[in-house]
Amino acid sequence: MQPDAPVLGIETSCDETAAAVLAPDGTVLAEAVLSQPGHAAFGGVVPEIAARAHLAHLPAMVAEVLARAGIAPAGLAAVAASSGPGLIGGLIVGSSFAKGMALAHRLPFVAVNHLEAHALTPRLPNLGGLEFPYLLLLVSGGHCQCVSVEGLGRYRRLGGTIDDAIGEAFDKVGKLLGLGWPGGPAVERLAAQGDSTRFALPRPLRGRPGCDFSFSGLKTAVAHLVASYPAGPLPHADAADIAASFQAAVADTLADRAGHAMAMFAATHGPRTLVVAGGVAANATLRAALTTAAHRAGFGFVAPPLRLCTDNAVMVAWAAIERLREGWADDLSHAPRPRWPLDAADMRP
Ligand code: KG4
Ligand code: ZN
Repeated sequence: MQPDAPVLGIETSCDETAAAVLAPDGTVLAEAVLSQPGHAAFGGVVPEIAARAHLAHLPAMVAEVLARAGIAPAGLAAVAASSGPGLIGGLIVGSSFAKGMALAHRLPFVAVNHLEAHALTPRLPNLGGLEFPYLLLLVSGGHCQCVSVEGLGRYRRLGGTIDDAIGEAFDKVGKLLGLGWPGGPAVERLAAQGDSTRFALPRPLRGRPGCDFSFSGLKTAVAHLVASYPAGPLPHADAADIAASFQAAVADTLADRAGHAMAMFAATHGPRTLVVAGGVAANATLRAALTTAAHRAGFGFVAPPLRLCTDNAVMVAWAAIERLREGWADDLSHAPRPRWPLDAADMRP
């Protein structure tokens, strides 16, 4: 590896097509993210549409970021791609493209675990270069878990959802309220106009030991509430009160579960920093609840800027840079996989 050369990162694990060229010191030389249109009409990500769109957009996007960074493929240190977990069609497109480039230009290939990429983001030097260990709360449409980040490749899952991911719950409530997809941002906007104390909704698992989550009962409670109204669109004020009451229930639940996770983490490492990542971290009410919970537990609180919290390729390139520094790269025979837990045995060579 050329130690000062930049790394190309590729992200295609869900419905964002992304590419980035990152210098080893964390400077972003160029990046692009396309949030694929075409899924909203179906009320969720359609894997086949996503894979075809990655295939259609990725080659031109890679050429564009390399041109903007002013670098030829042969001048890269390595090519990295999200290789799981995620939708297998998209993972095959991104990792095959990266392997093709690596083979053609005799570059190392790094198969990045997408969750590790989220987990290592706060270590980017321009975000302050957070030191290990820290506690990660990953909350997105597909993930909802608490992870003790102890070192490169060393992750301990403290708990996670036993049914729906938190973003999924927002998306389902958005659908019930007739807000379209994705529901999260729309639910948050509507909640701002509502009374969060009007409906007493369940706080699933609150007070129970451990830091697992459950959102299906809360979602069902919202579905019953909506069904108690006459058919047709809900009166606006009622929809806003439901959105606000739902969001308050999620905030309480999240603060409680994160509190348990911090206690579990602190038992080994003492109080450190709580990091929240994933698309749901965009929600101001949830961030505020987590900030309060962190301070109560004596933890610092970090939420990376939103464009680095949601799916992007900068985080993929950064995870690769950290791995390459340890001399870790992957074989071109590395197979992408839809499931790839962070505490899998092969996270360390
Ligand atoms: O990380 P992300 O962009 O993609 C993955 O799921 O991997 O997260 C998207 C999820 C969606 O479920 C979306 O509804 C949710 O994050 N989300 C929000 C907000 N913005 C996005 N949920 C609650 N409040 C928001 N402001
Ligand atoms: Zn993600």
